[in-house]
Amino acid sequence: MKITKICCIGAGYVGGPTMAVIAQKCPEIQVTVVDLNEERIAAWNDEDINNIPIYEPGLDKVVAEARGRNLFFSTDVEKAIDEAQIIFISVNTPTKTYGKGKGMAADLKYIELCARQIARVAKDNKIVVEKSTLPVRTAEAIKSILDNTGNGVQFQILSNPEFLAEGTAVQDLLNPDRILIGGDTTPEGQKAIQALIEVYSNWVPADKILTTNVWSSELSKLTANAFLAQRISSINAMSELCEKTGADVNEVAKAIGMDSRIGSKFLKASVGFGGSCFQKDILNLVYIAKSYGLNEVADYWEQVIIMNDHQKRRFSNNIVQTLYNTVSDKKITFLGWAFKKDTNDTRESAAIYVADDLINENAKIAVYDPKVSRKKVLADLDYLQTRTASTNADNVLSFDNPYDACKNSHAIAVLTEWDEFIQYDWQKIYDSMQKPAFVFDGRNILNGPALEAIGFVYQGIGS
Ligand code: UDX
Ligand code: ADP
Repeated sequence: MKITKICCIGAGYVGGPTMAVIAQKCPEIQVTVVDLNEERIAAWNDEDINNIPIYEPGLDKVVAEARGRNLFFSTDVEKAIDEAQIIFISVNTPTKTYGKGKGMAADLKYIELCARQIARVAKDNKIVVEKSTLPVRTAEAIKSILDNTGNGVQFQILSNPEFLAEGTAVQDLLNPDRILIGGDTTPEGQKAIQALIEVYSNWVPADKILTTNVWSSELSKLTANAFLAQRISSINAMSELCEKTGADVNEVAKAIGMDSRIGSKFLKASVGFGGSCFQKDILNLVYIAKSYGLNEVADYWEQVIIMNDHQKRRFSNNIVQTLYNTVSDKKITFLGWAFKKDTNDTRESAAIYVADDLINENAKIAVYDPKVSRKKVLADLDYLQTRTASTNADNVLSFDNPYDACKNSHAIAVLTEWDEFIQYDWQKIYDSMQKPAFVFDGRNILNGPALEAIGFVYQGIGS
């Protein structure tokens, strides 16, 4: 089957960049990204390429090249479904906030709505690709909806998890470590897999394209994220021990990372991991394990989350303790709000939880992040429902300039590892602060000895 039209439902952090790169690399395929969110689609279509809704290094260029040529953004979901041979589902799958599995299981209502809409609209055979991270056996649910509510047309369901990391999405998409495609072992399933392989073969070498059955593919995505997150919780656990023993976690990470069996990546101790995937996927894994009665498996993975929560709480507690056990009415400046550098995404960012703790202690939080707006900061805090929106607004100050954000503050906390923080004029910042001037480096990116020479009291993680 020669693919000429692709549709992607969901124009978010996964759907947007992934489809932009497919469109760039496959000029003969028409790629339409649809979303219910009109504001988001309007932003993707904004003439000023700087206004596209997702910040990712290099994404503007890819979109500028393909948009209007073979890449389209639209709110007309039905038309795009009708025309496409392959439909990617890339909608959000947040953790359930209600009912059975609350706080653990993935909320599949958006996925189900998509499946029902595809079933209603499709008039010819379609390949439906799961792109969102989903609990194992979701494909089965999608298939059941499609087969039982459709117009008698044939659907092939493929699992094709996305492994891109935000902040490096374009590079990850252009040079993926692997492309994973899970599908049915039937001849029709194999044909569908082949059709998707041909799309990726436009730029991905054949030896990097892996095919499995659907369940292996779905579970591999959860497993990859669980293993990555586990490394961070492991090094963060050691960071606490390092602080007690006089060891330095950066040195420990370097020493163990040179063991080729361990490897050096994902060993950076931090204030805690964030992002839309790690916590959600591990909770999912825990929920699935529990539902099969595998309590030891569930407990094992849940500990990764418990450690991460502990690390965030430890960071805020340490700020309070160090500032003489009170931060009431003190200005604490947050450098960074995004969950990592080079993204404007703030989902599950450690900054949110640290700020929440400190506001409980009556601190005033001054936020500067190069890519995150005040609106988003407040929305993140309001989402926790710890206090009223107006109390949050009263306790959070926002700045467009880091020097203003730091002026008169009692302490600076680095929550995101943005490169620009390293380059600041730290003497100028020191001169404008209350004394003693504290820096809590939640990312270990600043030069501690240099800051101490200026006069700061500097504390990193794990030393
Ligand atoms: C992750 C996976 O890496 C990606 O493959 C998957 O598709 C989606 O989930 P993402 O959440 O975008 O990607 O970013 P990632 O680079 O994995 O970072 C996640 C969090 O871990 C960030 O908060 C980051 O700051 C933190 N982190 C990462 C550390 O604290 N230490 C590290 O060594 C690495
Ligand atoms: P991700 O990081 O997984 O890409 P996002 O939340 O950034 O998650 O993006 C998911 C997008 O999917 C949102 O823009 C949301 O509006 C969109 N969406 C959710 N359900 C539907 C649906 N039924 N039809 C079209 N778009 C949808």
